[in-house]
Amino acid sequence: MKELKIPLINNGTVIDHITSGNALKVLRILGIPENLSSTVSVAINVKSHLGNKDIVKVENRELETSEVDKIALIAPKATINIIRNYEVAEKHKVELPSEIIGIVNCSNPTCVSNYNEPVKSRFKVINKDPPQIICYYCEREPEDISERII
Ligand code: CTP
Ligand code: ZN
Repeated sequence: MKELKIPLINNGTVIDHITSGNALKVLRILGIPENLSSTVSVAINVKSHLGNKDIVKVENRELETSEVDKIALIAPKATINIIRNYEVAEKHKVELPSEIIGIVNCSNPTCVSNYNEPVKSRFKVINKDPPQIICYYCEREPEDISERII
């Protein structure tokens, strides 16, 4: 029988199959706990048939595309389940687009995207799982992507 670690939710978003240990990074991407407007539950290192995973359940909130792209950078196997009236109304696997614009800072201090002029950061996605990105302008690859997420 499937063991339920956190109660089912009535309405909101369940981010499931998060790379084990990365739930807190997902919370940071969602601005939690600073922007707390709803109940959030977290399970870390839960056993599943595909190895261990983390789960984040955010009640009464649906995610922005930019938030989903950020999650794909640190949890490429995550699924986003939209819950309405206790049912899984939608299920999507996160997927990185081929380019990510304005969501990660380049780690090269002299990169044109780090000047004060309004050049948005831009990265080419060279591998989706594990995520690997290089700067469109200077070709620098961030050492730790999660540290560079805006
Ligand atoms: N869930 C929830 N509240 C609900 C319905 C589902 O919190 N009212 C959660 C489940 O606990 C699970 C996730 O949403 O973590 C996806 O639910 P479901 O699709 O029913 O589970 P699985 O079939 O196991 O999903 P998958 O195949 O994606 O692993
Ligand atoms: Zn750069």
